[in-house]
Amino acid sequence: MRTPALVAAGLAVMLFASPAAAAAGSVGAPGIGDSYYPLDGNGGYDVSHYDIRVSYQPSTDVLSGTTTILARPTEDLASFDLDFLLKVSSVRINNVPADFRTDGGELTVTPKAALPKGRDVTIVVRYTDTPGQYELYDYNAWKPTSTGVLANDEPQIAPWWYPSNDHPRDKATFDVSIAVPPGVEAISNGVLVSRSQTAPQWVRWNWRSLHPQAPYLTYIAVGQYEVRQATAPNGEPFITAYGDDLGASGPAARASVERTPEILEAESQWFGPYPFEAQGGVVDSGLGFALENQTRPVYDAGFFRGGANTSVIAHENAHQWFGDSVSVNDWKEIWLNEGFATYAEYLWSDYQGEGTPAEIAQFTYDSIPADNDFWQVLPGDPRPENQFDNAVYDRGGMTLQALRTTVGDDAFFEILRTWASEHRYSTGTTEEFIALAERISGQQLDGLFTTWLYTKGKPAVGPNGTAAAVARAVPAKPRSYDQIQETHRLLAAEAK
Ligand code: TRP
Ligand code: ZN
Repeated sequence: MRTPALVAAGLAVMLFASPAAAAAGSVGAPGIGDSYYPLDGNGGYDVSHYDIRVSYQPSTDVLSGTTTILARPTEDLASFDLDFLLKVSSVRINNVPADFRTDGGELTVTPKAALPKGRDVTIVVRYTDTPGQYELYDYNAWKPTSTGVLANDEPQIAPWWYPSNDHPRDKATFDVSIAVPPGVEAISNGVLVSRSQTAPQWVRWNWRSLHPQAPYLTYIAVGQYEVRQATAPNGEPFITAYGDDLGASGPAARASVERTPEILEAESQWFGPYPFEAQGGVVDSGLGFALENQTRPVYDAGFFRGGANTSVIAHENAHQWFGDSVSVNDWKEIWLNEGFATYAEYLWSDYQGEGTPAEIAQFTYDSIPADNDFWQVLPGDPRPENQFDNAVYDRGGMTLQALRTTVGDDAFFEILRTWASEHRYSTGTTEEFIALAERISGQQLDGLFTTWLYTKGKPAVGPNGTAAAVARAVPAKPRSYDQIQETHRLLAAEAK
């Protein structure tokens, strides 16, 4: 279910290949063409479905299983890559064993005969390994918890536990089946299809995602959890899981995450219909972050240390529209995720009577002096090392407030809703967002976006259209401000 096709990469290889090899097909590119992560994703094929079937033993960190991938070549392929770190024991393509090798996060597969463009293939990869030993881009997405493990990180989770075309441009549906020892819980995305004891030492949890999902939003949490299964007012399953080790933060975590359906209802009014089939949340301790995993975000208990925090719930659930359903087409577009999720915190604050978006954006603008480094990071292209800098969140949120000031409330919400519906289950770029905002408002908006996203320094005109206050009295701090700042401090800190 790839959106924009990227086929040029294979051509260069063909030019240098022997005539026989060229006739047999090209070498699929090792990357999909992302400007920050050149080896993420791959060229030459498009995945429609993953069936991940693993067992995991927490006491030894041994993960063992089979992933079956349904894919369609977009060119005649002599070989292709999957993004994967673990030791592989076999690969079959359409039931025929294939040659393979793994190196630095790339699993290169060479079928016995070239795969013709457009003809569906079934790829079966078998593997056993201990994921905790691997790093990619200097981090490890396979995080031990006090009671198990969490596969969770951004921009990559998949290479530590299943082979994939690891980029938001190639979304697919998923079945995730995890066998764990009895008494251990195993949580993933979507709906819980079934759970059953398949052997004296194994209980299998079968999860399913019915809508297109990016590989990095597909996760598992294995360990000791209280799992609650309820039904949201709209009839969807609402499944939450609370780690047994949350301590004093446990009640505040529950008092926040249990409000997810209410928060999604409010967000549906602002952004349009909720795009997915299930709702929920997982709370763990010792991880330090939250992540917008599709249908069921993960939160560190630290967000709830000072009491209930619904800002972070509003943030991660807004990502279901902006991040998960409409994903970045390139990781440099990250403000389309974080700026929008920040703006949702402002809207939720307003809904709660704790400060309006105009007040919060203005207070943020007034609080950060012009000589602060904050104004040197460009939300529209922050570079990988600053991908999750505070500026991507707060200046991104202020950018949307500046847009609202310029186009007015009606056009602003129509822009957000149209963005969510036109790019639903797909990806988008900043250029497309600007074009949409201009189309709906009938205004020329280049100047606004150039200033807020692509020009270093503090904009001379603030998010509400007034010049930087020198003489103006600093407004009172909105009641939600400290919680929003603490939420961003924790979210942005994870990336460093
Ligand atoms: N995208 C996450 C959020 O804002 C935050 C985040 C950034 C993150 N980098 C991460 C989470 C790495 C986990 C790992 O909700
Ligand atoms: Zn976020």
